[in-house]
Amino acid sequence: MAAESGIARRLEPVRRLRGKVSLPGDKSISHRMAILAAIAEGETFIEGYSESADCAATLDCLRRLGASLQVAGGGVRIRGVGRTGLQPSAEMLDAANSGTTIRLLAGILAGQPFETSITGDASLRRRPMRRIIEPLRQMGATISATDDDLAPLTIRGGALRGITYEPPVASAQVKSCLLLAGLFAEGETTVLEPVPTRDHTERLLGAFGAPVICQGVARTIAGRCLLQSPGRLCVPRDFSAAAFWLAAGLMVESAALVIGDVGLNPTRTGLLTVLREAGCAIEVVNERLVGGEPIGDLQVNAGTPRPSQPLRLKGALTANAIDEVPVLAVLGACFHGVDVADASELRVKESDRLALIVRNLRAMGVEVEERADGLTVPGGQHFRGASIETAGDHRIAMAFTVAALVADGPTTLDDAGCVGVSFPNFFTVLEQLRG
Ligand code: S3P
Repeated sequence: MAAESGIARRLEPVRRLRGKVSLPGDKSISHRMAILAAIAEGETFIEGYSESADCAATLDCLRRLGASLQVAGGGVRIRGVGRTGLQPSAEMLDAANSGTTIRLLAGILAGQPFETSITGDASLRRRPMRRIIEPLRQMGATISATDDDLAPLTIRGGALRGITYEPPVASAQVKSCLLLAGLFAEGETTVLEPVPTRDHTERLLGAFGAPVICQGVARTIAGRCLLQSPGRLCVPRDFSAAAFWLAAGLMVESAALVIGDVGLNPTRTGLLTVLREAGCAIEVVNERLVGGEPIGDLQVNAGTPRPSQPLRLKGALTANAIDEVPVLAVLGACFHGVDVADASELRVKESDRLALIVRNLRAMGVEVEERADGLTVPGGQHFRGASIETAGDHRIAMAFTVAALVADGPTTLDDAGCVGVSFPNFFTVLEQLRG
């Protein structure tokens, strides 16, 4: 899959970066809409479904479980099989590079009266799954895994009972896995979430007629709910994809970018908060609600104030910007520095992101201090063109492409193909904007 594709790409610095940025649909929301549509009553059309390899993996798994779906007309049409209508897959499911696919589907599979195995690519097979295995076992599922932690997972579901569970890590994937399993359980399932994480699952469950009650840190779903398709859903553009262009727009001096229809769910926009606190207010216009999610248009141009202080990410805010840390590190080096804390989760993403950010910043001649749960980059540094090691990690590839745009010489990515995991048109967009 994409993480092993390995197509190198040479990147030249740019002088110009102007125009309208076209983004993929939000990856997190797309996965969730497809999964819920597949087990709902009725037909759902998901407009603007993400074209990413990750979201294609979710569709492939759902198809193998008997959902009927077609990709057409700028979206995906899914005929739901109902809560008890999924069928055993003849083959092992493949989540490819996608942590969201394997962890959310594990919640669904735990509710099925049959056995399913699910695996992923080499990167996914290194990522921790005990965080979902333990609570799903408490609910009554039988699960085996390599070293009791790693994919492939073999899940035999059945008669689940609701539990109250406090995940040891702040994770929307764990929370969502348990709320989805809770749909098949007897009694209520409650996830206690001391640090709020993205709430797309809660919002969408409500849209499908299975409300999640949010009280303080508790997120509770009633058992054995029936989902009803809302008919048509529209996916906002992905804020985490927008982040690379916001950074590029700030770093390339004469840039003028407009990024339309971007998801602005407050559990996702920690990057805007960090920038604002450092004196850089990105202009947001045309704010509106689409399908229960706030969206708006973002603008960056010569008039946008640049950060005038160090960027700081820590505590609860880290969970709201966890996917933006690679590009935040690049931004900090260019402006007044950056300090990231409470981000040890980055060591178990598609790669050990903290280690790769540090190695690649150093390759570009940038000074950086690495810690177990974060990093500090002093400001006012210059990027030297270099060879970038992506380890097949899409967000590392895109963050260091942004650095390459202002480097003093050409940069080479060892694997540009991995951007397809979340943003297949990333380099086409770059070519359009540089004119
Ligand atoms: C995601 C949750 C986050 C995030 C990932 C997508 C989701 O992971 O990093 O890219 O869609 O729920 P964790 O839940 O592991 O923090």
